[in-house]
Amino acid sequence: MNVIMLAPGYPGEMPYFCRALAIHGAKVYGLSDVPERDLPSLTRENMAGYLKVANFTDEDAVVRQVVEATNGEQIDRVVCMWEPGVVLAAKLREALGAPGQGVQQANTFRNKDLMKQVVTAAGIRTARHASARTLAQVREAARSIGFPVIVKPIAGAGSMDTFRAGTMAELDAELKKMTTYDEVNVEEFIEGDEYTYDTICIDGEVMYENVCFYRPNPLVARSTEWISPQTLALRDLTPTPVAAGVEMGHQVLKAMGFQTGFTHMEFFWTPNGEAIFGEIGARPAGARTVDLMNFVGDIDLFMGYAEAELKGTFSQSTVRKYNACNVFKRAEGQGRIQRIEGLQHLLERYGEFIVTLDLLPVGAQRRNWIQTLISDGYVTVRHPDLQTCMDISDAVGTDLRLFAS
Ligand SMILES: Nc1ncnc2c1ncn2[C@@H]1O[C@H](COP(=O)(O)OP(=O)(O)O)[C@@H](O)[C@H]1O
Ligand SMILES: [Mg+2]
Repeated sequence: MNVIMLAPGYPGEMPYFCRALAIHGAKVYGLSDVPERDLPSLTRENMAGYLKVANFTDEDAVVRQVVEATNGEQIDRVVCMWEPGVVLAAKLREALGAPGQGVQQANTFRNKDLMKQVVTAAGIRTARHASARTLAQVREAARSIGFPVIVKPIAGAGSMDTFRAGTMAELDAELKKMTTYDEVNVEEFIEGDEYTYDTICIDGEVMYENVCFYRPNPLVARSTEWISPQTLALRDLTPTPVAAGVEMGHQVLKAMGFQTGFTHMEFFWTPNGEAIFGEIGARPAGARTVDLMNFVGDIDLFMGYAEAELKGTFSQSTVRKYNACNVFKRAEGQGRIQRIEGLQHLLERYGEFIVTLDLLPVGAQRRNWIQTLISDGYVTVRHPDLQTCMDISDAVGTDLRLFAS
């Protein structure tokens, strides 16, 4: 099968998807905007060819270039596991006559306002919302929705440029700081815990599902530097908030008409026991969450996805054996990492439950914590017992310290 893969080198999970597609028999043709030599070696080793385009944001130009390069050759799949490329992938499918998600559906997965309209029409509870193209429209939307509100780019990711405003004065102050966007979404602020609902589907049927709990909520984690954010994949999907999210997830997938591939949904669980839809993407969760799901069941969802996409079957186990938690670390101070404290003690106490240790080494330049979900590195904890998994994760959060200067 001839498969075009968008952004085969970034984010960090992509080389594994690229390899899995190749192992399942695909000829993978990479498509990206970086020179081939800059791709990770695992990606390069598993591609049958590569096309560098000048600029991913000029989607029509990319489509023309790809149509020309393929020169009538049959393309069996166009895959994209990277949020900003989801609509472009759909345009390529339509231009090349490849099966899979079309442009109309891709737009409902990318546009947070359209998405909520589709989900609301199916009777699923979402935040009240309105899209806005001018400052006056933002203010008007906030007034009619009622404070506090959330404002975010209409097609954002990773909580970038997303803020909460409790009053009109706060709204005005935040708008002054915000990057310019053509369109934003204004939403009722939902109080509650936040969870994910992730799947691999084949022809609209859920083959694999997962729920993660965010500790704390992503917006809080993304705006407070000293926090070590956690994503916790839950072993047990039956307790009330989790089961309610799974049930909502099924309804949302149906409402959106999703067919085949990975999905990543987020939902709120409010203090009065209501599940509220947050958002959904037609791609896997980032920030090494695929690894987390793999650790839960000792499985390989890179392979599971590739099999589902190419062959329409799914043969990975869905038995959940562990809770697995990624704890992301941010160094204290700016500049280069000078020392790491507490690691030895943590490994002595909990070593057998720590399954990934991926920290920047001493001497490395700190990453920009606003720009990256991975921060200055992360630790994966897994344990069959939820409370124990949380306790060890919290110990990693507080006792492991990186210092930069
Ligand atoms: N309506 C809302 N009410 C409360 N918090 C919200 C709301 N919308 C977004 N947030 C917060 O902002 C984060 C990012 O928003 P989200 O819609 O998930 O966009 P993305 O993850 O694509 O940037 C959420 O995880 C949540 O913490
Ligand atoms: Mg989100």
